[in-house]
Amino acid sequence: MTSKCCFKIGFILGLVFVCTNAQEKVFNVLSYGAKADGRTDDSKALLNGWRDACQWNGNGTLLIPSGEYMVNGAIFSGPCNGSAKTFEIKGVIKAPTDPNIFCKLESWISFQYIHFLDIKGHGTFDGQGACAWGKHPCATPLPYTLGLYFINNLIVHDIHSNNSKGVHVNVYKCINAKFRHVQIAAPDNSPNTDGIHIGYSKNIHIADSNIGTGDDCIAIIDGSQNINITGITCGPGHGISIGSLGKVPTQEVVKDIQVKSCTFINTQNGVRIKTWASSIAGMATNITFDDITIINASNPIIIDQHYCPERNCSDSTQESCVQIKDVTFNNIRGSSNSKAAITLNCSASHPCKGIMLNDINLEYHAPDAPAISTCANANGKATGKELPPSCLK
Ligand SMILES: *[C@@H]1O[C@H](CO)[C@@H](O)[C@H](O)[C@H]1NC(C)=O
Ligand SMILES: *[C@@H]1O[C@H](CO)[C@@H](O)[C@H](O)[C@H]1NC(C)=O
Ligand SMILES: *[C@@H]1O[C@H](CO)[C@@H](O)[C@H](O)[C@H]1NC(C)=O
Ligand SMILES: *[C@@H]1O[C@H](CO)[C@@H](O)[C@H](O)[C@H]1NC(C)=O
Ligand SMILES: *[C@@H]1O[C@H](CO)[C@@H](O)[C@H](O)[C@H]1NC(C)=O
Ligand SMILES: *[C@@H]1O[C@H](CO)[C@@H](O)[C@H](O)[C@H]1NC(C)=O
Ligand SMILES: *[C@@H]1O[C@H](CO)[C@@H](O)[C@H](O)[C@H]1NC(C)=O
Ligand SMILES: *[C@@H]1O[C@H](CO)[C@@H](O)[C@H](O)[C@H]1NC(C)=O
Repeated sequence: MTSKCCFKIGFILGLVFVCTNAQEKVFNVLSYGAKADGRTDDSKALLNGWRDACQWNGNGTLLIPSGEYMVNGAIFSGPCNGSAKTFEIKGVIKAPTDPNIFCKLESWISFQYIHFLDIKGHGTFDGQGACAWGKHPCATPLPYTLGLYFINNLIVHDIHSNNSKGVHVNVYKCINAKFRHVQIAAPDNSPNTDGIHIGYSKNIHIADSNIGTGDDCIAIIDGSQNINITGITCGPGHGISIGSLGKVPTQEVVKDIQVKSCTFINTQNGVRIKTWASSIAGMATNITFDDITIINASNPIIIDQHYCPERNCSDSTQESCVQIKDVTFNNIRGSSNSKAAITLNCSASHPCKGIMLNDINLEYHAPDAPAISTCANANGKATGKELPPSCLK
């Protein structure tokens, strides 16, 4: 189809190069002066390569061959000419360890305002986070490894993100994104190193990936809609969380979320929905957790509408104003390492509605067994197996 069309245009205009313009072209960072010695800052080489790939009138690929590249920080920005753009990382890109450099960044590497972007190549983004974890070297939060902003039609696959300083991958205002075969790794004691953090984005599919971090494997916040999460192995980490919701005034609804066929191993939580204690108005609805294996989590199933980790919400007499409704937990099995295997702690002013527990089988082996479920302001019903017995009314 394309070549026929091209041929016609070429024929009419008498310009054969119209056809060749639709071609794919590879821009190798080594041709742009990248040193690949793991020490010299290669940011300029990557950015210059990107500029040409972005301006190229066909499909453009920025290639980072194998080798180690120190990159102090880079923003790969569109809009671009031509059609799809590819960021092919075969090597390892390393982040700076000097706070004078990394403290100035919101994201270490970001991509923004691009239509059709493919990030792939079996390479690694190495955030070198150990130099920053648990310290307070910056006035602002530690940088994300990958910031993905305002991208339509994004595919991220077969890449590694290791030891991010802050969140590994931040997805903001993206539409139609697919993540697959993504490996994210940071130790369980690395603070705030969420795996994939999604906000204000639609039609996102995260599939067949391994995520182990010191915080949420996946966090889904305000304005996330039509999110499909399948085949994720999570652990260590804090599980897959919706929230925390109800903090910012521009709150948009969270809806149509499906988490299916995922496994959690030694995580703090399994599947969780949390809203700030004393929050502003909001809504989270049509959420399904289905076919989930949870091994040895402290809170395998938890809704917490009194979330306040810093314990600084005590002055508030008001309850959360985020309405949680139509949440299904179906076929969730495995084990809990705390007595409260199910916690449904909802808002007194906005009780949870339409909570469904179906075929729950969570074992608990300890002197104070069996496990229990605890409910506050939670309405719905339980069917099928009930281990522990449901507290829903
Ligand atoms: C890219 O598009 C801009 C705006 O349409 C145009 O001015 C420029 O010549 C294009 N660049 C190339 C290399 O085709
Ligand atoms: C250019 O990218 C588009 C979108 O990903 C793809 O459908 C097309 O096959 C690519 N064309 C070439 C020549 O690689
Ligand atoms: C990234 O982390 C994985 C898992 O811990 C490890 O196997 C791999 O060697 C790391 N890659 C780099 C470049 O450090
Ligand atoms: C989610 O992804 C799975 C696996 O690709 C697919 O089978 C399923 O239909 C998707 N669900 C939705 C609601 O898009
Ligand atoms: C609930 O979300 C799923 C996707 O997870 C979607 O297929 C379905 O249509 C939604 N249901 C309603 C009632 O909107
Ligand atoms: C289960 O989780 C607890 C608490 O996180 C941990 O101390 C323990 O080592 C884990 N058990 C196994 C078998 O991994
Ligand atoms: C409590 O402190 C944390 C961390 O400083 C902050 O993010 C949060 O907004 C505070 N909560 C309230 C209700 O003030
Ligand atoms: C709900 O959370 C509040 C605040 O953390 C706590 O005081 C209460 O005991 C919890 N209720 C249940 C049933 O878990």
